[in-house]
Amino acid sequence: VPLRHDFRPGVPDVTLFPRGAWSGALRRTLREAPDVALGYGDPHGAAELRGALSSYLGRVRGVVADPSQILICTGFAQGLGLLCRSLRAAGVERVAVEDPTHPGQRAIIAHAGLLAVPVPVDEDGLRVDALAHSGAQAVLVTPAHQFPSGVVLAPARRAALIAWVRHRNAVVIEDDYDAEYRYDRAPVGALQGLAPDHVVYAGSASKTLAPALRLGWMVAPARLVEALAAAKHHDDLGSPTLEQLAFARFLEAGHLDHHLRRARAIYRSRRDGLVRSLARQAPAVRVQGIAAGLHAVVRLPDSTDEVAVVAAAKERGVGVYGISEYALDCAHPPALVLGYAALTESAIAAGIATLARVL
Ligand SMILES: Cc1ncc(COP(=O)(O)O)c(C=O)c1O
Repeated sequence: VPLRHDFRPGVPDVTLFPRGAWSGALRRTLREAPDVALGYGDPHGAAELRGALSSYLGRVRGVVADPSQILICTGFAQGLGLLCRSLRAAGVERVAVEDPTHPGQRAIIAHAGLLAVPVPVDEDGLRVDALAHSGAQAVLVTPAHQFPSGVVLAPARRAALIAWVRHRNAVVIEDDYDAEYRYDRAPVGALQGLAPDHVVYAGSASKTLAPALRLGWMVAPARLVEALAAAKHHDDLGSPTLEQLAFARFLEAGHLDHHLRRARAIYRSRRDGLVRSLARQAPAVRVQGIAAGLHAVVRLPDSTDEVAVVAAAKERGVGVYGISEYALDCAHPPALVLGYAALTESAIAAGIATLARVL
């Protein structure tokens, strides 16, 4: 059955992409960039973009980022792969990951020859106490909005994670994939700002603008930067320069801030619509996690057969995703991960009405 309404998590509404502002930035780049910009670029990334990101990330996320510590990559996917290879070359064998987590991330870690060790997540985020038994020398976390469970890493856990990483002289990989979208208050600042010597901060334009840009960035401790740049050079001789220069202009002209203000308001009312429809039509379920990001997690009554609900909804043309699809070792109570950002409010209402009938 083709899906009429697909609550696939992780995708923004690409129809909101600011085509006019982006093409303006690209046109000006083509007109004004010197000829030398058309040769092979710096594998660290274009200096103009690293400069623009340094101030954007400092202002918006509290990231401490000297441009020399920024590396541009084709999305977090490439960044994580480069980092895992660099860590492996430095003797790291085990990377702790949150349970539940994104299966794609686990695959990237495994592909780099590292072992992904699951560590449970509860309502305060990663169980930092369990890290001690993981034997890991690095940990991949989503502290601002855990993917997929939707919780925030609690202040005491943030402090404990920083203590752990310092004590073990390990590395935290901070996946800050959707922190620009918080609807109830200002987002918590990036962990990186508290321990810049031990945290690799990673961001991406995939949720804020469009996955097709394949634009991501990492801010790494100085001791890791050259290994990362060497891995990037080895992979692809550097990310496409013209798009980097266009993105630098786009950021500096305030177009990303403008776009985010617009997108945030739209996603917020879609999320409100989702919560309202669920309250009205499926009162037995509970929305968990914070009002943030592009997806919500909906806890089903304990006795619910999650896999059967997912299959029955799909039969009726509605795509919903079970938390068990993201689980590693831990058993998770039945829940659905619902991406709402790319659906209109009427599609959300129709999809939830169908889901309610299934439940
Ligand atoms: C948890 C998480 N982090 C990061 C990303 C961004 O990946 P990329 O920048 O490679 O598009 C995604 C995209 O699906 C994601 O779900």
